[in-house]
Amino acid sequence: MDQNALKKMAADRAAEFVEDGMTLGLGTGSTVHYLVEAIARRVQAEHLHIQGVSTSSRTEDQARGLGITMVGIDDVDHIDLTIDGADEIDQHFQGIKGGGAAHTLEKMVALTSAQNIWIVDQSKLVDTLGAFPLPTEVIPFGHTQVERRLAAEGLNPEWRRDDQGQLVTTHNGNYVLDLHVGKIAHPHLLAQFLDAQTGILEHGLFLDIVNKVVVGTPDGTQVLN
Ligand code: 5RP
Repeated sequence: MDQNALKKMAADRAAEFVEDGMTLGLGTGSTVHYLVEAIARRVQAEHLHIQGVSTSSRTEDQARGLGITMVGIDDVDHIDLTIDGADEIDQHFQGIKGGGAAHTLEKMVALTSAQNIWIVDQSKLVDTLGAFPLPTEVIPFGHTQVERRLAAEGLNPEWRRDDQGQLVTTHNGNYVLDLHVGKIAHPHLLAQFLDAQTGILEHGLFLDIVNKVVVGTPDGTQVLN
């Protein structure tokens, strides 16, 4: 079974957790693409009244196009449930996100949400975080100084570039500095360090945020609580 089929399985299963009347946070990425399709099918078939808060223009456009009512994060007083993808998850449900450069908006939505579910194919489950380069979002002013500081800490920073070699920019007009750390033995300590760095708007360590993980495997979906 290919990875996309496993992502779709996880997304379809997670769409079942959506309930009528919910305000939903919708993440970003290829797995979420399947999720939005699955939610839209339910909205149409079951006449569900839900509204979505998105974490990227990609998700916003897709959801609106499929008839899901979308509202801004500053227009809601709460989010009931957020469903998002992830790049890595360890057995304690700590994770890395930001492969799609949307982690700042994703973290804002996740932290506003009463419940968080991640949807992944089984390749995202790891023993120790860090093989996936840890994304950070860095403001343009002084970005090379941030890079120097992180390099001096041995965090192996590398600017994310597009196919044309241009620096990738986020929704906020910032740059993405990926940290090739290898193994993150102490995620909370690293998060604390990165939180304290002037110039880093947000990093992709999502710690103590997720309640449930839905995993697509060749033997079916697994719901981990
Ligand atoms: C975007 C993210 C994505 O959720 C993460 O990269 C997973 O993406 P995909 O579902 O395409 O594998 O964090 O910033």
